[in-house]
Amino acid sequence: MRKVIITGCNGQLGRAVNKELSLEGGYEFTNTDVEELDITNINKVMELVSQVKPFAIINCAAHTAVEACETDVENAYKINAVGPRNLSIAAAATGAKLMHISTDYVFDGNGTRPYTEFDPTGPMGVYGSSKLAGEHFVERFGRNYYIIRTAWLYGDGNNFVKTMLRLSESHDKIRVVSDQVGSPTSTKELAKLIAYLLPTDNYGLFHGTCEGSCSWADFAEEIFRLSGKTTAVERITTEEFGAQVARPAYSILRNYMLELTSDYRFADWHDAIAQYMKGM
Ligand SMILES: NC(=O)c1ccc[n+]([C@@H]2O[C@H](COP(=O)([O-])OP(=O)(O)OC[C@H]3O[C@@H](n4cnc5c(N)ncnc54)[C@H](OP(=O)(O)O)[C@@H]3O)[C@@H](O)[C@H]2O)c1
Repeated sequence: MRKVIITGCNGQLGRAVNKELSLEGGYEFTNTDVEELDITNINKVMELVSQVKPFAIINCAAHTAVEACETDVENAYKINAVGPRNLSIAAAATGAKLMHISTDYVFDGNGTRPYTEFDPTGPMGVYGSSKLAGEHFVERFGRNYYIIRTAWLYGDGNNFVKTMLRLSESHDKIRVVSDQVGSPTSTKELAKLIAYLLPTDNYGLFHGTCEGSCSWADFAEEIFRLSGKTTAVERITTEEFGAQVARPAYSILRNYMLELTSDYRFADWHDAIAQYMKGM
């Protein structure tokens, strides 16, 4: 059995990774969330990793509340940057692999074609900057690591799909931003990539998002279509929505390193959301 430590196991991705690797078989899990292992504490991280001596650490822990990160700056950097630094140091010291997850928010969102792993980064806010700092720490202190940048995640937890379905219970029309584009990606599809990469020596930085792209408004329309709801989507601009924190307008990632190094291809986002909603 290959021992795996999952951090942030109660989060959307943590749950999906556990499910997917359990289906795969051959893994023994040490499931941890902040109560069992606070990744910001180097001593606790070293202690657990030295004790378990895992085959791999899968870091699903993060401070993902984009708005809150702007004011909770210290915790954003502790969880999104120092945390992966600690895990990299512990993984390198014990010979474990490290699977770390990053985000489309490392880019400035002014792109005119899908971003590849070779494009310059330029985060717009604290969340993106802290996640980018996490990537840099993993690159500096890690040895056998994979960093996967994903985007627009939904799974078992609070997410856009659930928000739309909840709002549709009380609204006939919902205003949704149509000038931000990206690739909705289910945690299941991302967990499948993690399960695929983990036994391989194909290390490094990867983009990992479902194929195809859409705006938030398009995504909402597809959610309502699949659920048979008649809720109308009123397309509005980011400015009209009046969000407090700037978000990248263009968030489409190309899974270029997967294209260059493997036959692995993601499902189209339409198929992934259809499968997710069937299971709701
Ligand atoms: N969600 C998205 O749309 C999205 C998009 C792109 C990339 N990503 C990346 O994908 C990964 C998974 O995201 P997700 O949506 O699954 O996140 P999530 O649902 O917010 O889960 C994160 C988990 O980490 C836990 N955590 C927070 N601080 C911790 C600490 N110090 N030590 C250990 N655990 C801690 C959280 O606990 P609490 O809930 O108690 O804080 C939560 O259970 C993250 O790296 C994220 O940056 C997400």
